[in-house]
Amino acid sequence: MTSGSESGVHRSLKNQIENILADGDFKAKAGSSMTLAGTDGGKALLIGLGNENKADLQSMRESGAKVTSSLGKIHGKTLTVKFHGIDNAHMAAFVEGMILRDYSYEKYKSKDDDDDSDDGDITIHVSCEEENTASLQKSADLSMAVATGVYLARDLGNAPPNDLYPMEFARQAIEFGSEHDNVEVKVINYDEARTMGMGGLVGVGMGSYRKPCMVIFEINGDKPGPSPCIVGKGITFDTGGISIKPSPSMDEMKYDMHGSATTFGVMQALVASGHKDRVIGLTCMAENMPSSNAQRPGDVITTYSGKTVEVLNTDAEGRLVLSDGLWYAGTHLNPSYMIDLATLTGACVVALGHEASGLWSNNDELLNNIKTAGEHCGEIAWPMPLFKAFEKEMTDSKIADVRNLGAGRWGGSNTAAAFLKQFVPNMEGTDEQIPWAHLDIAGTAWGAKTNKLVKNGATGIHVRTLHHLITGQ
Ligand code: BES
Ligand code: ZN
Ligand code: ZN
Repeated sequence: MTSGSESGVHRSLKNQIENILADGDFKAKAGSSMTLAGTDGGKALLIGLGNENKADLQSMRESGAKVTSSLGKIHGKTLTVKFHGIDNAHMAAFVEGMILRDYSYEKYKSKDDDDDSDDGDITIHVSCEEENTASLQKSADLSMAVATGVYLARDLGNAPPNDLYPMEFARQAIEFGSEHDNVEVKVINYDEARTMGMGGLVGVGMGSYRKPCMVIFEINGDKPGPSPCIVGKGITFDTGGISIKPSPSMDEMKYDMHGSATTFGVMQALVASGHKDRVIGLTCMAENMPSSNAQRPGDVITTYSGKTVEVLNTDAEGRLVLSDGLWYAGTHLNPSYMIDLATLTGACVVALGHEASGLWSNNDELLNNIKTAGEHCGEIAWPMPLFKAFEKEMTDSKIADVRNLGAGRWGGSNTAAAFLKQFVPNMEGTDEQIPWAHLDIAGTAWGAKTNKLVKNGATGIHVRTLHHLITGQ
């Protein structure tokens, strides 16, 4: 053991650890761990950090996550993490990883009286060199605050679609608004959306008994704009509609509202971390169902922008609800930039797998800022192209202004992004679009087995990226 790290560790436990290390039974490879229980002088968890030169922030987060994931196997709810000779940023990342991995979705599990493994909170003490404690305390507090937003996004993502439908999401948002003096929440309900001419949102949502709505969050509305605006796709269940999806894995389409979950999570994270400037969130909520009142392939709808769309496939519904969300945000909410998040296309998962979200933007500076923020947080957003040819493909409908389906299946995530771009308004009094970026999170919102910061289910992806982008923290 490095000198300095052993203080407070019982002599016999220390001897055993030193024997294990001396014998080479624990090589401290990155991602490895060893649990010592039944040992004299207490229990211990050895966590490998790997080669010092290769230990970046993400590997530190993953090592921290290993602590929390290993806890279930042993009895006891209190432990001390002893850092020695590690710099502040790396210690902070390790602590962040412990916090982020400390989540499971238990709302619908009956309690088993014999099983006390999940009882109670975990208490983790962290020790490090005295001169670093103030800084580490500060970053741990920030991680805890931001994690409340990540947890909220995961809770919303994991919620079953029979219980989380558009107006229930709105109800939770209104409740959130009533709990915080600096948050206003406004809901545009189905009747209002119809009156206002939001043909995209209405077209997608009208086939469901659970009617669609738009939810608008405003944080620190008394501060002058223009301000960042986050827009989320919130399809609480995507059957595909009349262009119905095949049954295998259709249950996963409960996660099709993760864009809205992330949006809500970012709002929570900003409030918890005490952000002082104005920020806007907008979510487009609908359930995409087949029914006698559902929209059909072949329908032409008029969106809130006034542009008409030929609906060639009712399963390409995310872009339809977002067309109204982006237009409303750009024309009513005074954004400095708009970033939408959507589980938009299977094609994005084909392109990038589960390792990165796709990132498109009409503004290089915004794109680079998002990419950098994603890298900093270990949530990769990878640049993808907005070629003119894709826009052309989406605007050559025979009978409407725009079509909701590409001409062929190739480049499907790019044509989807090109569709969205048609609904980004110009900055007032100019012929230049508002800076806008689109994150396709179809591969990163859930089921990313390589994401070590979450056990399973919804990931809460990009809550941290956007919190970091907006606050610089
Ligand atoms: N929600 C889906 C996209 C999706 C599929 C996300 C699988 C994650 C996993 C979206 O609404 C959709 O169905 N998109 C279609 C678009 C197509 C009809 C142009 C798709 O990707 O197949
Ligand atoms: Zn769909
Ligand atoms: Zn969808």
